[in-house]
Amino acid sequence: MQRIVVFTGAGISAESGLKTFRDAGGLWENHRVEEVASPEAWQENPELVLQFYNERRRQAQAAQPNAAHLALAQLERRFDVQIITQNVDDLHERAGSTNILHLHGELGKARSTLDGRLVYNVAAVTKNGVDIVLGDQCELGSQLRPHIVWFGEIVPDIRRASRLCEKADFFVVIGTSMLVHPAASLIHYVPQAAAKVLIDPDIPVVNVPNLYSIREKATIGVVRMVEQLLK
Ligand code: OAD
Repeated sequence: MQRIVVFTGAGISAESGLKTFRDAGGLWENHRVEEVASPEAWQENPELVLQFYNERRRQAQAAQPNAAHLALAQLERRFDVQIITQNVDDLHERAGSTNILHLHGELGKARSTLDGRLVYNVAAVTKNGVDIVLGDQCELGSQLRPHIVWFGEIVPDIRRASRLCEKADFFVVIGTSMLVHPAASLIHYVPQAAAKVLIDPDIPVVNVPNLYSIREKATIGVVRMVEQLLK
């Protein structure tokens, strides 16, 4: 069965009402990124960081998968589909996709600050099931933090992601500015012979041969592509 690897960014969730990073002008809910998404920010003001991600978790929970997420889930009817997403929302999961690798973490998860291998569902380890607050602890008694890759932290699953890209017969990039590495470098692991498509209303510069670009929003471009593939 043909193996399709789909690489998604914030743009695929834009039509579900979740802001992208660059569209927000580098500000996240009026915070500068460095204020809320870095180990230094966590050291300096853990409460602000926890509150920022609690707000994004609530927004993500209130959002619904859009036609693009749903179309990708339909692809699994006929293809071996692997999604590699930079997004921390769970819209791919809620749309029904089953093979999803979150490169930059997941809003719905929390992890120990003492042993990063201890990862929990926020719903199971917090008082109200939604917000991580100071005092929420892991089984070792250390404070829980968002299971998110912050600026300056390593991307633990990047090797696994590159191996998946090496096996792609068809590689689809959807809704990412391709600015953040190492995620944006994954496309260079895709075999030369594989077909490569990029769907974005504002096509980013990507130096890769034989890349076919579709200048469309995800709910148009992805739906049309999937219709063609499932014909
Ligand atoms: P960006 O905000 O950098 O890029 C969003 C992309 O989505 C842009 O190329 C937009 O043109 C495109 N876009 C906007 N609306 C769209 C729509 N309706 N349909 C399709 N595409 C649309 O977001 P990312 O590339 O995902 O890192 O950002 C990558 C990483 O930068 C994030 O994972 C985050 C951030 O810093 C970490 O959290 C570590």
